[in-house]
Amino acid sequence: MTREVTHEKRGPAKLDESDMGDDDMIYVCQCGLSDSKPLCDGSHNATADEEEGVTYKYANDDSDGERREINELVYEDE
Ligand code: FES
Repeated sequence: MTREVTHEKRGPAKLDESDMGDDDMIYVCQCGLSDSKPLCDGSHNATADEEEGVTYKYANDDSDGERREINELVYEDE
C-alpha cells in the first residue's frame, strides 16, 4: 500500500524537547496524514486496512476524509 499526500511546506521542521511525548520520544509521521506534521498524531490508524499493491488518496489528506483508490502517477522522462 502507498498513499498520495500533498505537502505545502518548503523547508525542514526543527524539533526539540517540547515535541517529546510522555515517554521522552519524538514520533515523526511517516504516513503523511498527521494534522500535526511532522509529528505523529495517531492518524496512521486509518491506514491499518490498506491493501498491498494499492495506492490511496484521502480527501484533503485527512485521515477522516473519503479514501479512494487511485492509479499510481507515472512521469515520463523529458
Ligand atoms: S505516522 Fe502519520 S500520524 Fe502517525
